[in-house]
Amino acid sequence: MRKLLVSSTLVFCLAVGGFWVSSLLRTAPPAGAKVEPAAVGRQVSAAEVAHHNSPTDCWMILGRDVFDLSTYLPQHTSDPDVITPWCGKDASEAYLTKTKGRPHSPYADSLLSKYRIGGLQ
Ligand code: HEM
Repeated sequence: MRKLLVSSTLVFCLAVGGFWVSSLLRTAPPAGAKVEPAAVGRQVSAAEVAHHNSPTDCWMILGRDVFDLSTYLPQHTSDPDVITPWCGKDASEAYLTKTKGRPHSPYADSLLSKYRIGGLQ
């Protein structure tokens, strides 16, 4: 009985250890791979942003970050006229005030990371 307990404990420990080692191997980047933090992205100039100034190709500068909001615009709750004039521009102030002196919600802030394409050059 004691032998059975010891051997089943051993098998359990080996199985857990095996899963742990394989999970480490799965998440490790390939040797020599360049790992860039997601928040860094590429550097984008204001001049490049200015080219993306239509509702279907809409980039905006918010603070020190650049966002491609083309796919988000149809989902934005306000009248399109409120947001589309900011395509291709620095919309930091407009975003912070919703042009009405009221900030966006933390939920709105949380959406931003999905659309970030880089930092402002
Ligand atoms: C840059 C110019 C922008 C302007 C002028 C603007 C303005 C507005 C306005 C007028 C409303 C509706 C009325 C209100 O809630 O008070 C609104 C709501 C909202 N906007 Fe924007 N918006 C902008 C950009 C964005 C961006 C980039 C996002 C997210 C990616 C966003 C997400 C939302 C959300 C989630 C709401 C619902 C209310 C809230 O959660 O605050 N907006 N915005």
